[in-house]
Amino acid sequence: MSARRENLLREMGLGPVWKLRQPAEPETTLDAARVAPSAVASEPASAAAPPGCAAIGSMDWGQLGAAVAECRACALCKARKQAVLGVGDVNADWLFVGEGPGAEEDERGEPFVGQAGKLLDAMLAAIELKRGSDVYIGNAVKCRPPSNRTPEPEEIAACRPYLQRQIELIRPKLIVALGRPAAQSLLGGEVKIGAARGQLHAYAGIPVIVTYHPAYLLRNLTDKAKAWEDLVFARKTMRELKP
Ligand code: URA
Repeated sequence: MSARRENLLREMGLGPVWKLRQPAEPETTLDAARVAPSAVASEPASAAAPPGCAAIGSMDWGQLGAAVAECRACALCKARKQAVLGVGDVNADWLFVGEGPGAEEDERGEPFVGQAGKLLDAMLAAIELKRGSDVYIGNAVKCRPPSNRTPEPEEIAACRPYLQRQIELIRPKLIVALGRPAAQSLLGGEVKIGAARGQLHAYAGIPVIVTYHPAYLLRNLTDKAKAWEDLVFARKTMRELKP
């Protein structure tokens, strides 16, 4: 392991765990046994357009950004400073989906720019990825939930057509769902991270890997080792997808 990688893992609080418990990457393969058939999402329903907009399902990036900025589909629009569409490489192979903007993201208009974002950047770096380079970062909801509460299922549902269109436009090879709202938006129904992680799910035929949200990891240091396993699984899956 390079010194740089070791430093990054240490920043994530993973260095010793990696050395003691994971001398080699876990044996994770893309075989059928690891695919969770029950969690494979059906083809998503086509999006309803807000009044005066082209159908979300046929929007380009400019139209999508404008529609999200003007969106009034749920109550989250009332308190937002701005909607936060996403950031990164629109042709990325990797898509990371979080929960929703927090105070700093609402202020700056970019996802994951606060403390959780720093950890996300370290997690990306640990698997040799970088924000903006073959990586796109978005959220299940585009507007900040008041007091950073978890978005309600109706809010996630109202915003899903935008995420769906982002996925159609990006056409990522692999999606990483960060936390429960992201996993629920992508996979539908109730998802428990502890049960869903370690398996390969799918959204519209695209492999989805579920892991803990960086903000949760900041509060629950012991689960960082599991998040590291998930990242290794994701990297291995991607390698198998594009040898
Ligand atoms: N948490 C998220 O889920 N998304 C962000 O953009 C910031 C924090």
